[in-house]
Amino acid sequence: MSTPMTQDELKTLVGRAALDYVQPGSIVGVGTGSTVDKFIDALGAALQQNPAFIAGAVSSSVRSTERLEKLGVKVMPAESVTALGVYIDGADEINHQGAMIKGGGAALTREKIVADLADKFVCIADESKLVQTLGKFPLPVEVIPMAAAQVIRAFAKLGGVGKVREGCTTDNGNLIVDVTGLQITGADRFESDVNQIPGVVTVGVFARNKAAVCLLGTAQGVKTLTF
Ligand code: 5RP
Repeated sequence: MSTPMTQDELKTLVGRAALDYVQPGSIVGVGTGSTVDKFIDALGAALQQNPAFIAGAVSSSVRSTERLEKLGVKVMPAESVTALGVYIDGADEINHQGAMIKGGGAALTREKIVADLADKFVCIADESKLVQTLGKFPLPVEVIPMAAAQVIRAFAKLGGVGKVREGCTTDNGNLIVDVTGLQITGADRFESDVNQIPGVVTVGVFARNKAAVCLLGTAQGVKTLTF
């Protein structure tokens, strides 16, 4: 009898599978997190075989930039690029329509910016991330520090309980408010509504920039969901 794969092994599996979505010689958009770290590892192996495998990357965080640069990947500023073929990133939750909660690693703003440059968002995740309804994972919201208390009060009106994430300053110098108690149906509308709250920089609902494909790591191997 074989032992079931660990969550870490499932992340490795989908990290490798994402290489198939990288157009050789292209500039690739790279997300943030432990699953993306596996993709970057796989990229490193591919670059050893073929140093021209990619022309460079646009990264969504200092963390990913450092890992990419260690591999010798040229990391380009987002503002120097007009379009990307593919953006590869993880998720904290993904629903059956491809909408996601992201920002567990506090990189949501840059993730949304880089995702928006890309033609295709490829989400890589282990099967624990697939949900019917978004909201069990506390929703990360990046906020301007002076607005944090106000944003928390605005979420209370929507039935959510917000809390400033302790010891966390984003790469942009802001705070993260994590909101529990939400059941997010109508993710598109929810994303737009939250974006109207003064002081909100980015809400961690990715509905407008939803996944086109999800490579889901399961006990049976990689399952490809398309949306
Ligand atoms: C970071 C993110 C990550 O993609 C998300 O938190 C998933 O991370 P992991 O792959 O470590 O589970 O949105 O801001």
